[in-house]
Order: sequence, then structure tokens, then C-alpha cells
Amino acid sequence: MLPVNWDTIRLFLHVLAATVWVGGQLTLAALVPVLRRLGADIPRAAARRFNQVAWPAFAVLIVTGVWNVIAVRSQITGSYAVTLWVKLLVVAISGVTAALHARAQSKTGLAVFGALTGISALGALFLGILLAG
Ligand code: HEM
Repeated sequence: MLPVNWDTIRLFLHVLAATVWVGGQLTLAALVPVLRRLGADIPRAAARRFNQVAWPAFAVLIVTGVWNVIAVRSQITGSYAVTLWVKLLVVAISGVTAALHARAQSKTGLAVFGALTGISALGALFLGILLAG
């Protein structure tokens, strides 16, 4: 059995939180058409419940992200540093557009911010794999 160390715990928590933030958004988006058939308010009720799980997951991503940066600080030079800065920008866009999506009143606002937070969440995931690769 391979040894479990703090790097294992750090990446386990970071990836677990990423599965909730990214996977949860994609799953909820896939469920919306069925939820809407159950009642006009059902999708918003489901989204509100998802937010109660998603935002703590986002907080864990930030905390374990900082822990990641401390753990790999010797590698943060050149193209690794550029990739990390791009990732942080994409993570910020993911958080801000998720908050704007949750507050959107118009169908257009819901659709545009919903798409932006989903795409940027996928982007953060991809950039994370790039960093760890
Ligand atoms: C939506 C938010 C985020 C997602 C979806 C995400 C996703 C990921 C994933 C999937 C990995 C690869 C883990 C592995 O394969 O070992 C990773 C690694 C990493 N992430 Fe994130 N992350 C997010 C936010 C952050 C934040 C906010 C920071 C910094 C403050 C950060 C810093 C890092 C670093 C430095 C690594 C490389 C860790 C290593 O190689 O040990 N991430 N991220």
C-alpha cells in the first residue's frame, strides 16, 4: 500500500471540492429540464439547495488552493507561474459569474452567467490538471 501523506490529503480535498463545484454544476444543468416539468419553482429550489453545498466546496478549493501554492512554491516560475495566474483568473471568473447567476432575475442573465460559470469551472479543472501534470 502506498504511504498516505499530507500531499495526499491536500490533493484529495482539492479534487473532492472540484468534483462538487464542477461536477455539481454540470449535473444540475442536466437536471433542469426534468425539474422544470415538475414545477416552475423547482429548478430554483434545487439550485438554492445546491448552493448550500457548492459555496462551501468553493471555499475548500480556495483554502486547499493556497495550500497547493505553498506546497509547490519552488515550482512557481516561468510557464508554470503563467499557467497558475491564468487559472486564478479563471477561478475568479467562475466564482463571480456563479454569484451573478444565483442573483439573476432575467432568463438571459440566468443563461449567460450560468454558461460562463460552467465553462470557467471546466477551464479551472483543465488548468489544474495541467499544473499537476
Ligand atoms: C474552481 C476552482 C478550482 C478547480 C476546479 C481546481 C482544480 C484542480 C485540479 C483538478 C487539480 C489537479 C490535482 C491533481 O491532479 O493532483 C488542481 C491542482 C492545483 N490547483 Fe486547483 N482548482 C481550483 C482552484 C484553485 C485555486 C483557487 C488555487 C490557488 C489559490 C489552486 C491551485 C492549484 C495548484 C497550485 C495545483 C497543483 C497542485 C500540485 O501539483 O500539487 N486551485 N486544481
